[in-house]
Amino acid sequence: MIKDIERKLVSEEEIDEITSRIASQIYDDYRDSTRRLVLICILKGSLMFTSELMKKLRLPLEIEFMKVSSYGSKTTSSGMINIHLDIKREDLSDADFIIVEDIIDSGKTLSHLVQYLKEKGACSVKTCTLLDKPSRRTVDFVPDYCGRVIPDKFVVGFGLDYAEKYRNLPYVGILKPEVYEN
Ligand code: IMP
Ligand code: MG
Repeated sequence: MIKDIERKLVSEEEIDEITSRIASQIYDDYRDSTRRLVLICILKGSLMFTSELMKKLRLPLEIEFMKVSSYGSKTTSSGMINIHLDIKREDLSDADFIIVEDIIDSGKTLSHLVQYLKEKGACSVKTCTLLDKPSRRTVDFVPDYCGRVIPDKFVVGFGLDYAEKYRNLPYVGILKPEVYEN
């Protein structure tokens, strides 16, 4: 697994700093709210990020899971979003939602999900991402909380995969292009 990594991009220490910083930003923004706070973990990629973040959030919160995918399993997204697992609750109007994502690329997944939850009646919807590749945007989208902006490289680890592999690396690394180019 490690032989396929070109170099480490975000270390374990930096991930720890990022999750602490975002947890305190969220704390400041929601500490006075009287509504329920719901984090939505987007499976599978944001599994590790969501769990690190929620450990550091000293606020009452609930957790939900959604599973979405864009067509195709290669290194670019097609822009067609499928929802494979939806949140179960019927009434979204009494809660503030924060969608927790691993990485933003074209921006289509998150802009679609924000729209979807608002149409379902969510009181408010914010977005939080560990990584952002703004140079790859095809739709206008800016996350509310962002761990780190990264260059246009395909990365894996800390939840992120290539063809379902590498999610268990404890850091984020750049995948060697030869792994996906043949
Ligand atoms: P978007 O809809 O184009 O913003 O796609 C975001 C999704 O694409 C993420 O949730 C990831 O599943 C996937 N993705 C984009 N870039 C990478 C990457 O560098 N490594 C792994 N997955 C990625
Ligand atoms: Mg994903």
